[in-house]
Amino acid sequence: MKRRLRAGIVGYGRMGRGFVAAMQQSDLWEVAAICDISPDARELAGKSAPGTQILSQPGAIYSDKSIDVVGLFTLADARPGQISQALSAKKHVIAEKPLAADVATEWQLVKEIEASDRLVAVNLFNRNAWYHKDILAFIAEGEIGELAILRICHMTPGHMPTEGHEPEGPPFHDCGMHYVDVARWYAHSEYEKWHAQGIRMWDYKDPWWVNSHGHFANGVVFDITQGFVYGHLAVDKTHNCYVDAIGTKGICRMRHNFIDATIEMHGIHATVKKTGLFNDKKLDVMVDVFARSVVAGKNLGMPSARDSVIASEVSWAMLNDAIANGPPVKGTKRDMQEILKHRRTLRSGYGLPSRPQGCPEDAIPAGQPPNACGEELCGLQEAEARAAARESSEPRRP
Ligand SMILES: NC(=O)c1ccc[n+]([C@@H]2O[C@H](COP(=O)([O-])OP(=O)(O)OC[C@H]3O[C@@H](n4cnc5c(N)ncnc54)[C@H](O)[C@@H]3O)[C@@H](O)[C@H]2O)c1
Repeated sequence: MKRRLRAGIVGYGRMGRGFVAAMQQSDLWEVAAICDISPDARELAGKSAPGTQILSQPGAIYSDKSIDVVGLFTLADARPGQISQALSAKKHVIAEKPLAADVATEWQLVKEIEASDRLVAVNLFNRNAWYHKDILAFIAEGEIGELAILRICHMTPGHMPTEGHEPEGPPFHDCGMHYVDVARWYAHSEYEKWHAQGIRMWDYKDPWWVNSHGHFANGVVFDITQGFVYGHLAVDKTHNCYVDAIGTKGICRMRHNFIDATIEMHGIHATVKKTGLFNDKKLDVMVDVFARSVVAGKNLGMPSARDSVIASEVSWAMLNDAIANGPPVKGTKRDMQEILKHRRTLRSGYGLPSRPQGCPEDAIPAGQPPNACGEELCGLQEAEARAAARESSEPRRP
């Protein structure tokens, strides 16, 4: 590559910081400008990315001819206008999901994106995961016979109502769309039929846990469970995240603990077990494949806008089915207030709101969980916990 790709970042929140950190650690990228409407976020950007232009409005990013790629990491309601502006300014785009806050606008954007000659990737991070790629390759070799059943689960004591991400919708859309996408990716087919059941925890208006089961057009059956309901007030927090792919002859499964991922593949010729870094949102993989795609002038394996919009549309439809099926209520508004109060004082927890003042100024190396996600433990808090554990195990000097 002759020179580094120059990126303009719009939105320096949790995901924006993660993308900037991944670009700073890659020799294919240079972060030219960062824009955020929040003064705190701009202050952090100035410290974390010295030498980068810091902006409160994105206009200068679109008009700067030397900027090749725009990263759009604000919330869903701001994204449609930003994508259109970036494409008319002839920029390539890395966008967060969902593309917009409603499905009709998302499809309109897919039309615009597919009619343009620019590369647009959407951060469906699972598609950059080594563990899914290994399992899919094993299945493609015929090791489990014909894929028949998919069981996918993602439950954490995560993000609570009123903690942000309102334009992204309740958890089954905000986070669940990732798992709706994973099932469709594995099945190699389109969703045909489903039934969804939800539960309105703490008497909140939206279901905060949903299970959907049904089948794809090719007959593969699935069940998907997603909920930020998994022991919010437990002394020791835990989670339950897995994928099971069951074939006519063998099986593959993946479990992770947000630090490591383990795959176990029981095929007709081989049994393979492997543990590797979970690598959080795999942003290092995304920025690498994006940069190589720009140089090659074609998509070398980035998640597409169309895949993102299908996942968004289906997860909204499943969520609406769960709502139509009359989700019962468990827990009270008082319980919800107790959890919110607990989370405000929590230093280590899942999907805690991330404030610029609490974030590290230095980029966390790729492969270690960065503080870049709405669902899992914040990397900063884990790093602090590790440092505290090291300190307490060091022999005390007299
Ligand atoms: N792919 C994933 O796994 C994943 C995980 C978490 C979040 N997300 C998505 O990433 C996006 C960002 O989420 P987040 O958790 O980083 O949110 P966040 O609230 O931490 O960050 C958003 C940032 O954008 C800024 N902002 C808002 N409107 C703006 C505008 N018009 N111009 C400039 N800056 C603006 C805010 O000040 C904030 O700093 C969301 O769409 C969310 O759905 C994706």
